Amino acid sequence: MSAVIDGGATPALVVPSVDVAPESQPVGWRHRHLLDVDGLTRADLELVMHTADAMREVLARPIAKVPALRGRNVTILFYEASTRTRVSFEVAAKNLSADVVNIAAASSSVTKGESLVDTVRTVEALGAQMLVMRHGVSGAPYLAAEVFGGAVLNGGDGWHAHPTQALLDLYTMRSRLGDGGSIGVEGRKVVILGDVLHSRVARSNIWSLTAAGADLWLCGPPTLLRGFDAWASRGAAAGRRFTVTSDVDAALRDAEVVMALRIQRERMASGLLPSLREYAARYGLTRERLGHARPDALVMHPGPMNEGVEIAPDVAIGAQSVITDQVTNGVAIRMALLYLLAGVHAAGSSDA
Ligand code: CP
Repeated sequence: MSAVIDGGATPALVVPSVDVAPESQPVGWRHRHLLDVDGLTRADLELVMHTADAMREVLARPIAKVPALRGRNVTILFYEASTRTRVSFEVAAKNLSADVVNIAAASSSVTKGESLVDTVRTVEALGAQMLVMRHGVSGAPYLAAEVFGGAVLNGGDGWHAHPTQALLDLYTMRSRLGDGGSIGVEGRKVVILGDVLHSRVARSNIWSLTAAGADLWLCGPPTLLRGFDAWASRGAAAGRRFTVTSDVDAALRDAEVVMALRIQRERMASGLLPSLREYAARYGLTRERLGHARPDALVMHPGPMNEGVEIAPDVAIGAQSVITDQVTNGVAIRMALLYLLAGVHAAGSSDA
């Protein structure tokens, strides 16, 4: 049985029963692919959060498995290294009883020059119905979605987007700050601190956090914030709360959530930072600096971390850290997304 959540002033939300196949009930989700979070409405975010709650209940059972995606093929195609995203998608798909195929580009025919389009057509010919992909080039999952007959889930593309990370981040905030009904970030000061320029996590979080009503601050060295002022102006014009600053003390003052971002050495063009040591001294999230935030502020990091650079080791494992929760919540969120997208695919929607 699906559950109806009373939305008060907003329309009631129908959360599907995740014990049965998505096509056996109406699923209030219309997106065929998950390429970014920019197209998700507040109602979509709420549905993902509530469906992840249902998946968490599944995960708490003695046998954390439901038959919902039995007989469906989920293919995981990663062109870049990953631990959290790749493994949690695999665990999520298996918990839903899907058949899972893992392809690492480094050991596939990609090394012989096969194009992305050929690879996508090949995995579809081999039975893929849902394709989870990570690629170093921004936009690659959009190209895959043009040629793939099933659902594409973006596991991170270049600097552009990491939608499942943003949704698990939102879910983690909601778990700590929400009341079970609202998402819980409305009006709260959330700071993203670090290498914003190269961060697909930051770009997706900008969409989801401002859509959920957070008072979002982006902070880092000016060289790693280029272009975000213009985005903030447009966001503010559209009623989204969004501030960009290099003043780390002002950003952290009274913050309720602080998310440190990895310094992406592999994407760093020369000249953007004098040195990692100077970055750590001026922008690293130390215990002293965290003292500007609320005493119970949540400390987050999408991982992988450079401890001692963007975050001090004692902060990363301190009482305020929810970094491990983020990883754990990634399974429930990815189960929710696979389930919701499978329902649309089964219903034959053409909405991208
Ligand atoms: N946060 C994240 O995407 O981590 P992985 O690169 O390990 O997947």
